[in-house]
Amino acid sequence: MDNHWSTLIQGPKTLDYAKELRFSDDRKDCFIRVLGLQPGMSIVDLGCGPGTLTRKILKWLNHDVSLIGIDRDFTFVEYEN
Ligand SMILES: C[S@@+](CC[C@H](N)C(=O)[O-])C[C@H]1O[C@@H](n2cnc3c(N)ncnc32)[C@H](O)[C@@H]1O
Repeated sequence: MDNHWSTLIQGPKTLDYAKELRFSDDRKDCFIRVLGLQPGMSIVDLGCGPGTLTRKILKWLNHDVSLIGIDRDFTFVEYEN
């Protein structure tokens, strides 16, 4: 593990904010279709960063998924929204 992305490119709050705008709830149906998300799925969010999309998927599918987020950057892994 390292913290290269969060120190050299974007910190967790900046990345979380930017992705919150991208993965806005009013575009939920579009992302569910594009990502092929379905209730009951097992999902690995590899390179999840601060977990913005990870949390969105949980919310959009009413927690009816097995979901794990993985990131090599420990600053993101430790980040609490
Ligand atoms: C552009 S950010 C995207 C974060 C997140 N997917 C999002 O949409 O907000 C890319 C992420 O991939 C992670 N990453 C890069 N290489 C990785 C690897 N080999 N294993 C795990 N995470 C990795 C970085 O640490 C960074 O958090």
